[in-house]
Amino acid sequence: ASWEKQVRHSSTPRRLNGFSVLVTGAAGFVGSHCSLALKKRGDGVLGLDNFNDYYDPSLKRARQNLLSKHQIFIVDGDLNDAALLTKLFDVVPFTHILHLAAQAGVRYAMQNPQSYVRSNIAGFVNLLEVAKAANPQPAIVWASSSSVYGLNTENPFSERDRTDQPASLYAATKKAGEEIAHTYNHIYGLSLTGLRFFTVYGPWGRPDMAYFFFTKDILQGKSIDIYKTHDQKEVARDFTYIDDVVKGCLGSLDTAEKSTGSGGKKKAPAQLRVYNLGNTSPVPVGRLVSILEGLLGTKAKKHVITMPRNGDVPFTHANVTLAYKDFGYKPTTDLASGLRKFVKWYVNYYGIESKPSKGTQRGDESSS
Ligand code: NAD
Ligand code: UGA
Repeated sequence: ASWEKQVRHSSTPRRLNGFSVLVTGAAGFVGSHCSLALKKRGDGVLGLDNFNDYYDPSLKRARQNLLSKHQIFIVDGDLNDAALLTKLFDVVPFTHILHLAAQAGVRYAMQNPQSYVRSNIAGFVNLLEVAKAANPQPAIVWASSSSVYGLNTENPFSERDRTDQPASLYAATKKAGEEIAHTYNHIYGLSLTGLRFFTVYGPWGRPDMAYFFFTKDILQGKSIDIYKTHDQKEVARDFTYIDDVVKGCLGSLDTAEKSTGSGGKKKAPAQLRVYNLGNTSPVPVGRLVSILEGLLGTKAKKHVITMPRNGDVPFTHANVTLAYKDFGYKPTTDLASGLRKFVKWYVNYYGIESKPSKGTQRGDESSS
C-alpha cells in the first residue's frame, strides 16, 4: 500500500525518543490540530481517517494538505478495517493512540443512527481489539463527550456525576464507549483515558456546528434559529477553544499510564480515567450570536424558537478540577477572543472580503 512505502521510508512515526502516536480522525477538526501540536514538540505522528462526507470532505483534504506540509501522513482507511489496523501496528510500534475518529454531531443521529453505531461502537471495539493484541500495548487517550451528562441537572458537571440520561443516540454511543473502555481496561490491562470535550470551536472547525454555520448564514443574510428551552430559558454551552483542548489532549497523553499487558495478556491493573475538558464558563447561544455580529459587522436575522426535541441538552458546564490536578489543564481562551480567531480564519479560508470591524482588521494577530 502507498502508505506503507511512505511510512517505511520516513523516520517520522518510528521515533527512538519521544512518543510514536497513531492519531485517528487526523483529518478532522481536533485531530488535525493535535497532530500538528504533537509533531511540533517532536513526537512521531501517523494519522488515520476515512475522509467521509458527513461534512465537506474538501475541508478534510485541506487539513490533510496542511499536515503534509509538516511531514505528517494520513492513511486513508476505516476504523472497522481490522486488517489495515493490524498492519499499521506491524509497521509502527506505536506507544500511544489518540483516538478522535468518530461520527460526531448531536442532531444528525436522528437522520443516520447507524453511522454512530458503526464508528463510535463497532469501530472503537475494532481499534481496542488491535491495540490489545499489539506488543507492546499502546496507551490510549480517546474522545468522549460532554453529551454523556445528558439531562443531568448538576451544575457544573463533575466526572462522578450521573451519566445515565443521554438525550441523543450520539451521547449514548459516547457513553457506551466509556463502558467498553472499562471492560478492555479490566480484562486486558489496556491504559485508557477518556476526555469529555465540551463544544470545541476554532479555526479549521466543523461546518456542522452552530458557531460555524451561524457565521456563514449571517454573512449570507440568511436567518438563523436560536433555540430556547421549553420553559423559555436560554440554552447555554461551555464553548471551549481548540488550543485549550489540544493542551489537554497532550497533557493527558503525557500522564497516561503505560499499559500493563502485552500481546493480549494482562499483567497488573492500569487505571481507567475520564476527564472533563471544558472552559468552565457557559455562554448562552444568544451571546454567541451577538459576539459574531460584532466580529462580522453584520446583524443576524434571528429566529428564536423553542428547542425541538432533537438530542440537544439545555446547558453544559464543566468542572475541570480533576484535569487540572492530574495534568495542569487550565483553559485560557474566552469565547470572544476564540471567536475572533475563528472569524479571521473563516474569512481568509473562504476568501471573503470582511467589512472592517474590530475583530477582523488586517494585521490582527492570530495564533492559528
Ligand atoms: P470531526 O468530524 O472533525 O473529526 C472526526 C474525524 O474522524 C473525521 O475527519 C472523520 O472523517 C473521521 N472518521 C469518522 N469515522 C471514521 C471511521 N469509521 N474511520 C476512520 N475515520 C473516521 O470531529 P471533531 O470535532 O474533530 O471531533 C473529534 C472527536 O471529539 C470525536 O470523537 C467527537 O465525537 C469528539 N467530540 C468533539 C466535540 C466538538 O465540539 N468538536 C465535542 C465533544 C466530543
Ligand atoms: C457539540 C458537537 O457538535 C458534538 O459533536 C459534541 O460531542 C458536543 O458538542 C459535546 O460537547 O459533547 P453541541 O453543543 O450541540 O455539540 O454544538 P452545536 O451543534 O454547535 O450547538 C451549539 C449550541 O447551539 C447548542 O446549544 C444548540 O442547541 C444551539 N443551536 C444549534 C441553536 O441554537 N440553533 C441551531 O440551529 C443549532
